[in-house]
Amino acid sequence: MKTFYITTPIYYVNDQPHIGHLYTTLAADILSRFRAKRGDEVFFLTGTDEHGAKIAQAAQAAAKLPKKLADEVATEFKQAWKSFAIEPNRFIRTTDEDHIKFSQQFLTRLNEKGVFYKGSYEGLYCVACEAYYKAEELLPGNLDPVHHQPVEQVKEDVWFFKLSQFENQLAKLIDGGGLVIEPASRRNEILSFIKSGLRDIPITRSKVAWGIPVPWEKGHTFYVWIEALLNYLTAADGKKIWPPDLQIIGKDILRFHGVIWPALLLAADLPLPKKLVVHGFFTINGEKMSKTTGNVITPKELIDRYGVEASRMLLFTSFTFGEDGDFSFDFLDRQYNAKLANDLGNLLQRTVTLIRNSRLEIRHSKAIHCADADQALERVDFKAALEAVFVIVSEANQYIDETKPWAIKENAELKPILVSLTNRLLTVAAGIEPFAPKTAAAIRDQLKTLKPKPLFPKLN
Ligand code: MSP
Repeated sequence: MKTFYITTPIYYVNDQPHIGHLYTTLAADILSRFRAKRGDEVFFLTGTDEHGAKIAQAAQAAAKLPKKLADEVATEFKQAWKSFAIEPNRFIRTTDEDHIKFSQQFLTRLNEKGVFYKGSYEGLYCVACEAYYKAEELLPGNLDPVHHQPVEQVKEDVWFFKLSQFENQLAKLIDGGGLVIEPASRRNEILSFIKSGLRDIPITRSKVAWGIPVPWEKGHTFYVWIEALLNYLTAADGKKIWPPDLQIIGKDILRFHGVIWPALLLAADLPLPKKLVVHGFFTINGEKMSKTTGNVITPKELIDRYGVEASRMLLFTSFTFGEDGDFSFDFLDRQYNAKLANDLGNLLQRTVTLIRNSRLEIRHSKAIHCADADQALERVDFKAALEAVFVIVSEANQYIDETKPWAIKENAELKPILVSLTNRLLTVAAGIEPFAPKTAAAIRDQLKTLKPKPLFPKLN
């Protein structure tokens, strides 16, 4: 059986980890746990993107060497993931020795295939996106469409990749399902971008020193996106896990992953990833989350307020993965109190108390799954998975209200009700396990020990 290979983007080290990065990485962790539980071998990759002008400028502003800044921020990302029970199989850094070597060798081989050529680029560049733009793609005032930052006019000697040659092949692959991009709206978006015409893009820079040196051209470093994308290959090198089964990205980096990335793989005659899933962006009270706006929410703030287990669920009950959503603590507070503290907490408490008072022995069936949640996660629909679980919770609470087990004197009548409640709670535990593994364990544990303990303390 092939290893399930799942990736997130590698995050820039100019910025601290925030809940946007957390969202993507948690999604990958949840799916990894889901697959592992089903018996799949899983390889889950995440990491940091550390080269290029954006990082060099951030380092300069902080009066640090780029590598020093990268070391510090990479450590923060690692700690943030650890604090959130996110357990990647590898945390790759683009300054890792094996990545530098792999990128140089891989791109040298591609160069020998004749897909690159030397030239000069004159045009627009956005350091915030590390991306080349055409004038007509910009917002009024020459601002980039993602960060709304001014772009710069650059002129430099570069090596180009013959991206335009892959236009038809890419369009066919995406159209025909050879490269699956979800949701369909994103597939259509990238398809029309490709059909509007691809131009060749630089793969090296001669004016950016902080990067991986180009072996065949002195004074050039690789354009950061080119080597960053190769991280997915570096991590798979020698592992027999290629191609990725699922790559998760945010909508901001669709063009890189839906065009440049598959084109590089086609040029190298390598199999394409099986599926690219694109999620939406959080806004904070309607605004883009950013350092400049000063509205960045950190993973730690979520933990302080809700704890790890609840946070891992709340981020996915509150937003539809493929769509943008407005993040608000008020909304999350209400979800927490209603679904976790009340509905789930009460169900467990009531059930455990009923079983204990009955003095009946209830056997636990081992092979309990939550089929609806499983099917939803199969489709990468986190919200539907949790909704399926919370339907079971509210139906079970209703079942208690209707059957009134506390008033039943006959064991023969009471026992099937308690068995049903136990099974429902074990189904709930199975359903939330990839999201909240410790809560799943606590539910199973309390049903055994029959000592009720609140799962989620109510917020004030
Ligand atoms: N370094 C590149 C990716 C290279 S991959 C080969 C990069 N880094 S980034 O630090 O800017 O991270 C972008 C990703 O972080 C998004 O694609 C998304 O996964 C996540 N998010 C960043 N902000 C986000 C929100 N506000 N909301 C949801 N996800 C967000 O781009």
